[in-house]
Amino acid sequence: MTMRDKLKLLERRRAESEQGGGEARTAAQHQKGKLTARERLDILLDDGSFTEYDRFVTHRSTDFGLGAQKFYGDGVVTGHGRIDGRLVYVFSQDFTVFGGSLSEAFAEKICKVMDLAVRNGAPVVGLNDSGGARIQEGVVSLGGYADIFLRNTLASGVVPQISAILGPCAGGAVYSPAITDFIYMVRGSSYMFVTGPNVVKTVTHEDVTMEELGGADTHAATSGVAHFACDSELECLQSIRELFRYIPQNNLGEPPRGAGSDARDRRDEALLDIVPDHPSKPYDMRDVIARIVDDGEFYEVHRAYAENILCGFAHLGGCSVGIVANQPAVLAGVLDINASIKGARFVRFCDAFNIPLVTLEDVPGFLPGLAQEHGGIIRHGAKLLYAYCEATVPKLTVITRKAYGGAYDVMNSKHIRGDCNLAWPSAEIAVMGPKGAVEILFRKEIADSDDPQAAMDEKVAEYTAKFANPYVAASRGYLDDIIDPRDTRMRLIDALDTLMAKRDRNPPRKHGNIPL
Ligand code: HXC
Repeated sequence: MTMRDKLKLLERRRAESEQGGGEARTAAQHQKGKLTARERLDILLDDGSFTEYDRFVTHRSTDFGLGAQKFYGDGVVTGHGRIDGRLVYVFSQDFTVFGGSLSEAFAEKICKVMDLAVRNGAPVVGLNDSGGARIQEGVVSLGGYADIFLRNTLASGVVPQISAILGPCAGGAVYSPAITDFIYMVRGSSYMFVTGPNVVKTVTHEDVTMEELGGADTHAATSGVAHFACDSELECLQSIRELFRYIPQNNLGEPPRGAGSDARDRRDEALLDIVPDHPSKPYDMRDVIARIVDDGEFYEVHRAYAENILCGFAHLGGCSVGIVANQPAVLAGVLDINASIKGARFVRFCDAFNIPLVTLEDVPGFLPGLAQEHGGIIRHGAKLLYAYCEATVPKLTVITRKAYGGAYDVMNSKHIRGDCNLAWPSAEIAVMGPKGAVEILFRKEIADSDDPQAAMDEKVAEYTAKFANPYVAASRGYLDDIIDPRDTRMRLIDALDTLMAKRDRNPPRKHGNIPL
């Protein structure tokens, strides 16, 4: 055989390796409104940037007729490519080959790209669409999953790991995406559950649909397993590309700078009127964020889950930041179990990947009640506190209105290594709100007075004048300054500039023991 003949054979085999499970199965995939593994990579990656590995790998099992059926690639397309010119390692499960089920060879291919990602300091994006463990391979397949789980864990905090769920993801298979940093799902076509509707029916006698049990909205709004619910695969893959505008390549790298042209010293007049005069009137903290950050662009994470706290990425003066903000428009911005968990996970991602944290604070405290106490608000609230305390990235806080009780400490106060703590003149910082405080301190005095209501009003006014302001905290240096709200953007950008070379460390140890 001449070299030319050998090249022709190679071309034929390469073409064959790109056929997946064949025309009929590809058509079935399209009929379900789903793209193929390769079509997905085409959208995710910069044009022409994909380099494939292991396209000639096939499975080794011969059980249950598998010996007769072999497909090049064995149901997963792996390799590296670029997103906005940046190196990224990818795997894309191919449902048209044995339902994207995971074999020994399939797992080895995924492990290879994960190892390369860690060694070369680049993110991993996994596109999941699989029937789970390849049944014919038994324990070998289960072992393959465990090999992946181990790598997910060891890569955590070293390189960003992103999962898109674009089909079924069931059983133990869910635990690989669950360990990664961000999960994207698509309404109507992606599902995650430990056991499907049939098993649920048998065990608990509950009738549930796939969508109810483990669809995109269920996980984005109720369980909090997914960070993003998208309307289509196209939107999902484009949204992952968008995320890359804010995150670095690895834990030793710096996040990319924003390309916006927003002036660093832009003042925003509307910030003067955003906080209502009445302390219990709500406002939307998203308006504050939009007016402060570069070009008003806020890439929100976990948008539909625990809406009383907002988490997301933005640029400030070109610098990528993670924003954590209480949301007075939902439950008055109170911290509850879900908000604490959501905030803690986000803070830890930012800290692991050198993304400065900006906290916007308007919080009446932790949510009281039986359900919260029995649910473990103490343990879960401690997660957020712990995450903020251990974070060593630049940490900036602006108190827009309330900072009450333990929540004052938690939301990046000066005491837990806040680098720059600012407040608007509307800030109220105290152990508790005026009414609650007066009822505790002066209950007897008020009850004994001739006009209890007037006595109450007088004490509330006295307490408000003394505590419900930022001046006591500022007089102690717990706040670095009280600022004109219109200057918030430039004050934050100026503070970020001073913190670019910040060095801070936690004591050496194997690892801390965050209250999980
Ligand atoms: C081998 C599988 C497979 C599997 C699907 N296929 N799942 N082959 N192992 N796990 C094959 C089918 O035989 C079929 O082959 C093709 O993939 C498409 O499957 P269909 O059933 O025709 O597709 P669809 O109707 O869309 O249903 C998809 C599905 C269903 C919901 C995923 O296939 C299914 O329920 N599969 C089993 C899911 C499961 O229970 N997996 C184990 C989970 S536990 P042909 O040749 O006809 O194209 C697990 C443990 C992980 O994964 C442990 C980690 C610790």
